[in-house]
Amino acid sequence: MSASPLAPAWLSPPADANDLPRSVWPENATRATSGELLLAGVPAGDLAARFGTPVFVMDEADVRARAENARAAFDSAFARVGTTAKVYYAGKAFLCTEIARWVSGAELYIDVCSGGELAVALAAGVDPSRLGFHGNNKSVAEIDRAVREGVGVIVIDSIIEIGRIADAATRHSRVQKVRLRLNSGVHAHTHEYLATAREDQKFGITIADAGAAVRDIRSHDSLEFLGLHSHIGSQIFEPDGFVEAASRLLTLHAELLADGPVPELNLGGGFGIAYTSADEVLPIAVIAGKLADIVATECSRLGIPMPVVAVEPGRAIVGPSTVTLYEVGTIKDVLVEGSAVRRYVSVDGGMSDNIRPALYAADYTARLANRTSAAEPALVRIAGKHCESGDIVVRDDYLPGDVTPGDLLAVAATGAYCWSLASNYNYLGRPPVVAVLNGVARLIVRGETEADLLSRDVGIDRETVTTEAEVAS
Ligand SMILES: Cc1ncc(COP(=O)(O)O)c(C=O)c1O
Repeated sequence: MSASPLAPAWLSPPADANDLPRSVWPENATRATSGELLLAGVPAGDLAARFGTPVFVMDEADVRARAENARAAFDSAFARVGTTAKVYYAGKAFLCTEIARWVSGAELYIDVCSGGELAVALAAGVDPSRLGFHGNNKSVAEIDRAVREGVGVIVIDSIIEIGRIADAATRHSRVQKVRLRLNSGVHAHTHEYLATAREDQKFGITIADAGAAVRDIRSHDSLEFLGLHSHIGSQIFEPDGFVEAASRLLTLHAELLADGPVPELNLGGGFGIAYTSADEVLPIAVIAGKLADIVATECSRLGIPMPVVAVEPGRAIVGPSTVTLYEVGTIKDVLVEGSAVRRYVSVDGGMSDNIRPALYAADYTARLANRTSAAEPALVRIAGKHCESGDIVVRDDYLPGDVTPGDLLAVAATGAYCWSLASNYNYLGRPPVVAVLNGVARLIVRGETEADLLSRDVGIDRETVTTEAEVAS
């Protein structure tokens, strides 16, 4: 078939609009002989019938394998250059107690960035010494709790935090390990990076201010300086940004060694994943190898010992493992600029369960989940049900042209920054999260009910108001 004139340049008409490209779909996504999508052997229709739609379905083995592969890849790459690595899972991508246990089971550390994320990790039974605590505006109460609980390391994001953390550590008779987050001036996104003299953003402190900040940290007996940190961006496919950031950080790291130990260096996360088959992703072992080479080269140039290197991938661990299942409600063909037709396929979720298309113009891939079809593919735009024209779930993809109300759609690679950024806009309940493994589906976070949605509104007379669930029962 020929491409729709409305299709973006990166999207080619598919040879088969039912295929499940391996780079995009969870490891254990397959088709049954009937054509139905199977997630770790569980039919999509069964998942929808049991848990409703929308529903996030996580391939547990996929998450565990990615976590283990990341740890193994960084361990072996950094062992090759004579040091060790620490892999933190960036919990902001998707955190619940079950995921915290999966990644801890793979011996990953976890990075949290609020009191709430800290509470989830602690509730999961994660050893606090294996947690890193981030955030550009940690409250004094959050800092106090992190220190009291024995969090392994706190990442200082501004000068004012140095005294706050030192005071908390003194109060709790602890020596708190800290890193210092730098605004390295390198910002990487997808295939490009920008290196600017002074970047206009809220995170970290500038390289120019870092020397004084480290002197301040070292002046407190209740603080132990572990090293520098930088996170240069997300969904990065090329190593150039890391090369530049590592070179800038290690130059400063070498200067800091003159006045005391600097045992570690944290290069952040941001390793890209495939949301569509146009995204070409570097395997984690290749990324780990490149980072090890960059750090080794820079350390040898500077004549300094290799530090322990920490990284913080989030999306690369959970992103590809998950699909969101939706049910198609309405379909309309809209004539665009008087010539081409765009087919809007509306589903029963939207920007409340996946804000990334609206927030970042992120692209996604969709497939029919209840069946396959040999119908000629049609370019579609999958929209949500919210009162916003920007409420798009998949801006452009081809689906079989006979897609119809009642069909189930699966959207791939929704494991990172979808559920964690979910909202109750238009009073939609946040969807449940289901883990699938070896043919068995297991609820790991329940969906919100109408009763949940009404529960915080103090103006409701609980005696007289009846929820939909109560009417149905
Ligand atoms: C400090 C820090 N570390 C790690 C990450 C994880 O990034 P990604 O999920 O793209 O790997 C982020 C994401 O925003 C971050 O801000």
